[in-house]
Amino acid sequence: MKKENMLLAIHHHIEDSYSPKWIEYCEKNNIKYKLVNCYDNDIMEQLKGFDALLWHWSHIDYKAQLFARQLIYALEFRGFPVYPNAIGSFFFDDKVGEKYILESIDAPLIPSYVFYDKKSANRWIERTTFPKVFKLRSGAGAHNVKLIKSVSEAKKYASKAFGKGFFSTHRGAAIKNRIWHFKRDKSLKSFLNISRGLYRFVIPNPKSVALPIEKNYLYAQDFIPNCDHDIRVFVVGDKAISKKRMVRDGDFRASGSGQFVWEIDESQKECVKIAFETTEKLGMQSIAFDFVMDEKGEAKMIEISYAVGLTAFLDGIGYWKRDLSWRESEIVIEDYIIEDMLSDLERQK
Ligand SMILES: Nc1ncnc2c1ncn2[C@@H]1O[C@H](COP(=O)(O)OP(=O)(O)O)[C@@H](O)[C@H]1O
Ligand SMILES: [Mg+2]
Repeated sequence: MKKENMLLAIHHHIEDSYSPKWIEYCEKNNIKYKLVNCYDNDIMEQLKGFDALLWHWSHIDYKAQLFARQLIYALEFRGFPVYPNAIGSFFFDDKVGEKYILESIDAPLIPSYVFYDKKSANRWIERTTFPKVFKLRSGAGAHNVKLIKSVSEAKKYASKAFGKGFFSTHRGAAIKNRIWHFKRDKSLKSFLNISRGLYRFVIPNPKSVALPIEKNYLYAQDFIPNCDHDIRVFVVGDKAISKKRMVRDGDFRASGSGQFVWEIDESQKECVKIAFETTEKLGMQSIAFDFVMDEKGEAKMIEISYAVGLTAFLDGIGYWKRDLSWRESEIVIEDYIIEDMLSDLERQK
């Protein structure tokens, strides 16, 4: 199918969405598109006559969490292309689910453990070594990631996990994070960010308040020590962007620190290679990977996700091509996603 004959459906959000840039791309490149509302009851009907759907759904959107995976699977079932596709959606914001899919393809995931009852969790806690990294299956910015240093600390965590459970969004943690950013970069922008954090503390984001309580499982990973950074790689089709994210002062966690370097080196190249291979194996259109280098210097995966935040690669200096050569370029991830979808459609029909 030729680009000029295609008709794309775009679900549009103004805030924190790829859709404004997708619309801009279509306007600039004469790609026909219409806006649709995936939350509508008749969405299946609405999509008749379109060639593909693009919907950047968010992990903090409790409504999307209720049906995005199922809608996307149903569309794919009838052969209708969607971004993100069914597998990309299925394992989004679900570290427990990712463990199974990554283990199934022997990806170099950091050894990860999951338990669904307190007795088995405690039995493991008594036999394993510490520290370990305990996490919730959902969340971002390292809010739900904790270093557990002892058996007693782990048992306390397990009691909560199999008791009243955890909130997956933390209003307090978000403010702490914003204050940390302000201390590092005393700008008006980071100051205003604290005010926004205070506002969100009082009036939480309506999208996230109804997210379910996380309970009745315990998920943990081996702790990879001495990492002053993690390596984030975002693969979209035949391009990959990467950066080193530095950990917060006195902390082992890089995600959400806001500190990073674009430096290009061999360790990143190794991660990019694994990232391309894994994306192909899983048949996903895009995957963001977090990697750390272990004590043997081997790249280990922390987690995957179909999408990254809008500003994650905003000032990027270039991308890797599939043959691992480097190309200097301005980075517009939204354009890469829509271009990849268009070339898929050109190939398919
Ligand atoms: N097993 C681990 N060993 C060492 N560092 C880790 C491990 N897991 C996570 N981290 C650090 O913590 C950060 C947040 O963890 P991650 O699982 O990616 O959660 P989030 O979804 O919040 O980004 C990572 O960016 C990394 O720096
Ligand atoms: Mg992460």
